[in-house]
Amino acid sequence: MEKLYEGKAKVLFPEGPDTLRVYFKDEATAFNAQKRGLIPGKGVVNNKVSATLFRYLEAHGVRTHFLEELSDREMRVLRVEILPLEVILRFKAAGSFAKRYGVKEGTLLRAPLVEYSLKSDPLGDPLICPEAILALGLAAEEELSQVRTTTLKVGELLRDFFAQRGLDLIDFKLEFGKRQGEILLADEISPDTMRLWDQKTGEPMDKDRFRKDLGGVEEAYQEVLRRVLRG
Ligand code: TMP
Repeated sequence: MEKLYEGKAKVLFPEGPDTLRVYFKDEATAFNAQKRGLIPGKGVVNNKVSATLFRYLEAHGVRTHFLEELSDREMRVLRVEILPLEVILRFKAAGSFAKRYGVKEGTLLRAPLVEYSLKSDPLGDPLICPEAILALGLAAEEELSQVRTTTLKVGELLRDFFAQRGLDLIDFKLEFGKRQGEILLADEISPDTMRLWDQKTGEPMDKDRFRKDLGGVEEAYQEVLRRVLRG
């Protein structure tokens, strides 16, 4: 079937007027696609992890674009108009935050921190402040407020979910979409878009293994899936 859009990790296929089929690929990129590779089985893991987390969040009152799992690598979702923002929630310093402020990875932040990036490959997803989001009309004040509140709620729910599975949720990235005036959580929530450290060993169990060439990438993704599905 004709593609609607192909991104770095997923392909979107049109279905009806209201729904899309999302296909999760094994291709991995990092550093704005300067680094490319393959993580065998990643598409299956990310589809199943995302589906499980969307269902869990829905059960706790978070509205999402998720409808159903269609196969190992595919899910059906509602069509939404994606806000051009990456919304990041951080519990502990890591990645670009640790580098920007010169703090040690793993430093606990005084409170969960919401950050926004402008979704733009040519610009390299620059950080953007809430005032600039409003000034540029990328979201309305009410929408941004809802995005922030939902992100903090998702953070609490996911942190609990992973803590019960021996994983420390360090940070994660969300995307939101608009549908009929409503804001829905969209995109994916997977080891590509979160940092998860094993509680016992402190080992990263996410895409940082690929970004930093730590080895054991496939195994880490499979282990996250196993723990997520443990229920
Ligand atoms: P960062 O520390 O590199 O800014 O990443 C913060 C979180 O966002 C981390 O959990 C990884 C995730 N992330 C994405 O999902 N997509 C991206 O393009 C980047 C850079 C990070």
